[in-house]
Amino acid sequence: MHQPDEKRYDSMKYNRCGRSGVKLPAISLGFWHNFGGVDTLENSRAMARHAFDLGITHFDLANNYGPPPGSAEETMGYILKNDLRGYRDELIISSKAGYGMWPGPYGDWGSRKFLVASLHQSLKRMGLDYVDIFYHHRPDPETPLEETMGALHDIVHSGKALYAGVSNYSAELTKSAEEIMRSMGMHILIHQPKYSMFERWIEDSLLKELRDDGIGSIVFSPLAQGLLTDRYLDGIPADSRAAKPTGFLRPEQVTGEKIAKVRKLSELAKARGQKLAQMALAWVLRHREVTSAVIGASRVGQIDDAVNALQNASFTAEELKKIDGILAGK
Ligand SMILES: NC(=O)c1ccc[n+]([C@@H]2O[C@H](COP(=O)([O-])OP(=O)(O)OC[C@H]3O[C@@H](n4cnc5c(N)ncnc54)[C@H](OP(=O)(O)O)[C@@H]3O)[C@@H](O)[C@H]2O)c1
Repeated sequence: MHQPDEKRYDSMKYNRCGRSGVKLPAISLGFWHNFGGVDTLENSRAMARHAFDLGITHFDLANNYGPPPGSAEETMGYILKNDLRGYRDELIISSKAGYGMWPGPYGDWGSRKFLVASLHQSLKRMGLDYVDIFYHHRPDPETPLEETMGALHDIVHSGKALYAGVSNYSAELTKSAEEIMRSMGMHILIHQPKYSMFERWIEDSLLKELRDDGIGSIVFSPLAQGLLTDRYLDGIPADSRAAKPTGFLRPEQVTGEKIAKVRKLSELAKARGQKLAQMALAWVLRHREVTSAVIGASRVGQIDDAVNALQNASFTAEELKKIDGILAGK
């Protein structure tokens, strides 16, 4: 059993999630990569324990994280049983369904059948009675939104999830989803969109929708899967996500154009006295609509970097302008 650090709540920042009663750590840890059956269990365990020691109370999962799909939830189950037993009430654990999980017409997208069956599987893998947040992982263009939201509503009322979330929904769809939820006397707690210096779509309309409806947000891939760090400045390291056959970042995405920008951003971060990874995290957290940034990590030191980003999280107008200029290729 792990003996968590007694000072774990001393320095982490906790932000209220929209207009709700729940707070999330500014930095959360995602289990998409490096927690699967193909990964080293001891490293996954060490990262989860270290994160908790630093006040990271939120672990983000999904039915399909691995590989193989489902194995990251099994790792979470192992950690909860062997390392963090007794600490369930100090943790926010999320899962999702929305991407292909099993063959046939009921193992994908957004039907009530899929969401409920998938959550039952997730709970079994993690050895849990309930998850704290259950998300619909991506929009389903064919299933009526009323059915998907109805399933999330009933899941929460059954006690198998405490809150409901949506991920990868447009601003417009989020608004419609929240209207349906409200008609059933409930709210969407949180949205999980992709957001980083390289992926700024939420700035156009989603942030306004979140503000208007009091929905929190947790932004994923804030480091653009590692591109917004110093990792790829001298090529593709053998132990990096882009080099791994199971990594979602492909070598062809590490382009000369991107790295030229990364180099300039890294210089700017240095002038601020921090690493690029830290500046990139501070940058996504600058909006008050962003409750948390969910990072991925392949080693314990990367989690330290992320948490230390909070020590220097404000920007001058001039710095923000410089960042916009670099991203625009100036
Ligand atoms: N809802 C959705 O559709 C969706 C989709 C994707 C992800 N997510 C969630 O978001 C989480 C995070 O996504 P992500 O892993 O893409 O996030 P990310 O934070 O953008 O990328 C994580 C990767 O960046 C590198 N890195 C992290 N800290 C570093 C540091 N200090 N210095 C150098 N490199 C560093 C590591 O790569 P190396 O492995 O190369 O060391 C790490 O694996 C996922 O685990 C998942 O929970 C959700």
